[in-house]
Amino acid sequence: MKIEDFGVEIWMNAHETHCRFNIAETCVDSITFADLMQMAGKSQAILGELNGLKLTYGAIEGSARLKAAIATLYTGRAADEVLVTHGAAGANALLYAALVEPGDEVIAVVPTYQQHISIPESLGAVVRPLTLRAEEGYQPDLAALEALITPRTRLISLTNPNNPTGVVVRDDLLQGLADLAARHDLWVISDEVYRGVNQGNDALSPSLAEIYPKGIAVGSMSKAFAMAGLRLGWIVAPPALLHQVMIHRDYNTISVGMIDDLIASIALENREALLDRNRQIVRTNLDILARWVEEEPAVSWFRPDGATVTLLRYDLDLPSRTFCEKLLEETGVLLVPGSVFGVEGCVRIGFGNGTETLKAALPLVSDFLRRHGR
Ligand SMILES: Cc1ncc(COP(=O)(O)O)c(C=O)c1O
Repeated sequence: MKIEDFGVEIWMNAHETHCRFNIAETCVDSITFADLMQMAGKSQAILGELNGLKLTYGAIEGSARLKAAIATLYTGRAADEVLVTHGAAGANALLYAALVEPGDEVIAVVPTYQQHISIPESLGAVVRPLTLRAEEGYQPDLAALEALITPRTRLISLTNPNNPTGVVVRDDLLQGLADLAARHDLWVISDEVYRGVNQGNDALSPSLAEIYPKGIAVGSMSKAFAMAGLRLGWIVAPPALLHQVMIHRDYNTISVGMIDDLIASIALENREALLDRNRQIVRTNLDILARWVEEEPAVSWFRPDGATVTLLRYDLDLPSRTFCEKLLEETGVLLVPGSVFGVEGCVRIGFGNGTETLKAALPLVSDFLRRHGR
């Protein structure tokens, strides 16, 4: 099976461990195990649970405890509508394998995480992009979306909150998208790994799985929950679809690590404290970034209202890859070229990582913009 190179992952693999200032990171500043235990307030009990674990394959589809904790993130969905996966990366790959046949059409709201384009293409589907535009606040144009639907359309995919723009789909448009999908009886894969750390409002924003029976939510411990090291994600979908997914999952996952399952359960059982910590980080950092953008004449943006990432448009005569390579070489600051998302003249910045890193890196980006200015 041939598949396109995964632009953003190849870029990150090459540079993330060698740079001085990583402001390309998408995870909220990862939490330590000790801090999590302290947050849960039961360090000894948790160590006792870990000590008592017999290291088998564990519960194959994810423990009942974990599935129940995940289900609480989705109003109206139950634990039997949850399947635990190897990260959201595993969830997305499994969903496309279960849903897409050669000759199908998939509508992908772009820019997006490349899995949603390249995996269906590799399975023989035709991917039709619906492009989000800065001048429309990166909100989907539902009429344009409906115009892309043909009798061959199998599903629609989106990332919400969006990677790379950081924008959350407006509630009325999300409902409109669900209604439109219902009229055409389409599945919708909603990759919601950044849900939980919106700006402004502490409530979880609506999930597509809460408002549409064929809305499939993909979630993860990696981003909003700051625990990418667990490599643990999930799918929320009707049991009949999960059964189809299980047929593929038996071949490439069997089960996730039982230690990861336990730690994720503890984290989600304490999710308010964890998300409070994480929201504080992204809100502090986004304010710092906003002040910088305001004062930086060579940069403009559409201020995001969620996620940990956003696009910065720069006023330099450099392709985004050259921009990022030179920036890294000259300053040690890592950003992501917009070109890996098919957007030129932009870079993606992550604002979920350490505040001190962001504070140290932004003046270096300003110096770079001065040196290379038109
Ligand atoms: C939108 C989106 N989906 C999925 C993933 C993969 O996440 P995980 O670490 O849970 O596999 C990422 C990682 O960057 C992402 O941005």
